[in-house]
Amino acid sequence: RKIIYLQEVDSTNEFAKGIAPQEEEGTVIVADIQTKGKGRKLRVWSSPKGGLWMSIILKPNVHPKHLTKLVFISALAVVETLAEFGIESKIKWPNDVLVGGKKICGILSEGKYSENRVEYVILGLGINVNNELPKELKDTATSIREVLGFEVPLIDVFKKLIGKLDKEYLQYLKGNYEEILGRWKMYSAIIGKRVRIITDDGEIAGVAIDIDENGALILKQNNGVLERIYYGDVSLRF
Ligand code: BTN
Repeated sequence: RKIIYLQEVDSTNEFAKGIAPQEEEGTVIVADIQTKGKGRKLRVWSSPKGGLWMSIILKPNVHPKHLTKLVFISALAVVETLAEFGIESKIKWPNDVLVGGKKICGILSEGKYSENRVEYVILGLGINVNNELPKELKDTATSIREVLGFEVPLIDVFKKLIGKLDKEYLQYLKGNYEEILGRWKMYSAIIGKRVRIITDDGEIAGVAIDIDENGALILKQNNGVLERIYYGDVSLRF
């Protein structure tokens, strides 16, 4: 397997995008430091030394409508990786992994596809491992080091994660979507809970009932009406 290791890069996702058209499937880009780490919704992703910042290039031969489900396998792979280190974690829709309610991992998927063909997908995963967290994130984020009270070798986390990602990706390629979604729901931090969803148009409150096969969140609003949410942030804080 091809692994491109960089000491410093703007963003492993950006680097991956640059090479993806001519790159083989499965290539991983990993960097010690990202100078312009990106989060969802144009946010900055703090990426100093000590964390695991990586992207994987995939070229699944599936209909583009199945792409939203790829973030589920990434989140599952992270949960399973953390479990190997004795850490119990939960998934917050659409793609955060939390430990004790604090974010330990973020996932950013980007892709190029047409109506009926996928050219490539880039799954970018950022896991706080031994890195320092910026002051302003201390209340809402955590790291493996903070949870365990000691450092774990980054390479161990990396190897485990790749193994789990490969395993999950095989399930995905087999079309075992229900099984994947079932396990995702088992680890969900929000299903059955009262949540606030922050979308570009404002806020909706209700109970998170389910995730549908397309990855949309089904919310039962306080007035009883069900709504499907495709894009937004979930807050469990009131
Ligand atoms: C989020 O929670 O908003 C997503 C964060 C994704 C961060 C990872 S780190 C590796 C890859 N490269 C990036 O620039 N972002 C992703």
